[in-house]
Amino acid sequence: MTEQREQWGSRLGFILAAAGSAIGLGNIWKFPYIAGENGGAAFVFIYLVCIAIIGLPVLVGEVLIGRSSHRDPVGAFKVLHGSKVWMAIGGMGVFAGFVILSFYSVVAGWSLGYIIESYNGVFYNFQSAGDAGNHFGSLVSNVEWILSFHTIFFILTMIIVYFGIQKGIERYSKILMPLLFILLVVMVFRGLSLEGADKGLAFLFKPDWSKINGETVLVALGHAFFTLSLGMGAMMTYGSYMSDKDSVLSASLQIVILDTLIAMLAGVAIFTAVFATGQDPTAGPGLIFHTLPVVFTKMPGGQIFSTLFFLLLTIAALTSAISLLEVVVAFFVDELKWVRHKAVILFGLVTWGIGIPSALSFNKMSEVHFFGMTFFDVSDYLASNILLPLGGFFIAIFVGWVWGFDKVLPKLKSGAEDFFDKYPERITYWQFFIKYLAPVLIFLVFLNSVGLLDKIKTLFN
Ligand code: PHE
Repeated sequence: MTEQREQWGSRLGFILAAAGSAIGLGNIWKFPYIAGENGGAAFVFIYLVCIAIIGLPVLVGEVLIGRSSHRDPVGAFKVLHGSKVWMAIGGMGVFAGFVILSFYSVVAGWSLGYIIESYNGVFYNFQSAGDAGNHFGSLVSNVEWILSFHTIFFILTMIIVYFGIQKGIERYSKILMPLLFILLVVMVFRGLSLEGADKGLAFLFKPDWSKINGETVLVALGHAFFTLSLGMGAMMTYGSYMSDKDSVLSASLQIVILDTLIAMLAGVAIFTAVFATGQDPTAGPGLIFHTLPVVFTKMPGGQIFSTLFFLLLTIAALTSAISLLEVVVAFFVDELKWVRHKAVILFGLVTWGIGIPSALSFNKMSEVHFFGMTFFDVSDYLASNILLPLGGFFIAIFVGWVWGFDKVLPKLKSGAEDFFDKYPERITYWQFFIKYLAPVLIFLVFLNSVGLLDKIKTLFN
């Protein structure tokens, strides 16, 4: 066991760390922009369904695997099953960790850079909403700007994982996460008070089902995994620090509720502003950087609020990034017996390097396409829409079919005895969800997104 393992001894420690991992750029940067690109409310609805019927059951399973084995993702499958195939599934998670962190850091770097932009009052120079978009465009097309902040963010992530997480992130998350929440609420009110805000609400909450196709459902499912840090072993690794006296069920539910709440607040804050200022909801990855500066300049104390906001967003990203790097590091420390420091430096550098083409996707390499996408988009697509759902599928199969409920249930019951006595039927639902519903749905979504489902349907017509 590594020295890191002991630190999330308390229940609160686990919730904070896991919520810190879950709440990040996925909620505030990614959710609004992919909801915008995929038609708004109908997408939001499917995303919420995915969270409830797939995300939550799989999260319970993943945390449980971690807590039962007290090992990194590869070691966990080794301890609980022993076969090479399952260890390789754990390995796929470690690989996904590399991929996600590489492009995650680029976006976190934008947020870092925006702390300085806001602090310097740059947003006040904007005459129109379009100016904010242009400003973002000119920043990301500047190779030096984008690479410097990617690098600084990476160094911060490495420092925290290098020295351990306990005294820093756990302590500060307690103060900073609630602050981020309060600021988001302020912005929600600000957004709602803007003229034209109702159009934003309609976009977010009034579904137009014609906008939905197989690909949209896959994006929603992928995002459910991404936002909950699921399917690649981050929650497993954090679960492995958890005490057997704490309830996996209630902790998982709390994480899901917090994460969803933050995403919805971000959605309201951003779409009210997008529509009130006449901007394009399908603007893509730059969406929050186009809209929020405009909102801030229109409110009293905007400079302070915007500086604080991007500071907190960067911190939220940092608490997610460390969980990504931690998975990779835990694997090398636990399984290959590396010294933690060596693993952090080597794999920090490697992942930072893989992030460079992602950073260049917005400037020098914007015309270089792989499968019709930039390197940044390919990394995101590969991780979010393929590796994470696939990882989630295998976790569900493992818990539902391979591990055996006779072993799983006593583990799940540990720390949740009251719940088991009071709501035995809910445990039965969970068994059904993880054994049948989650794997079947994930499988169907995959088939559908590659067009196979349509072909099968025509066979039967
Ligand atoms: N959940 C994080 C977010 O929403 C991203 C993440 C994905 C972190 C997978 C760890 C593992 O920003």
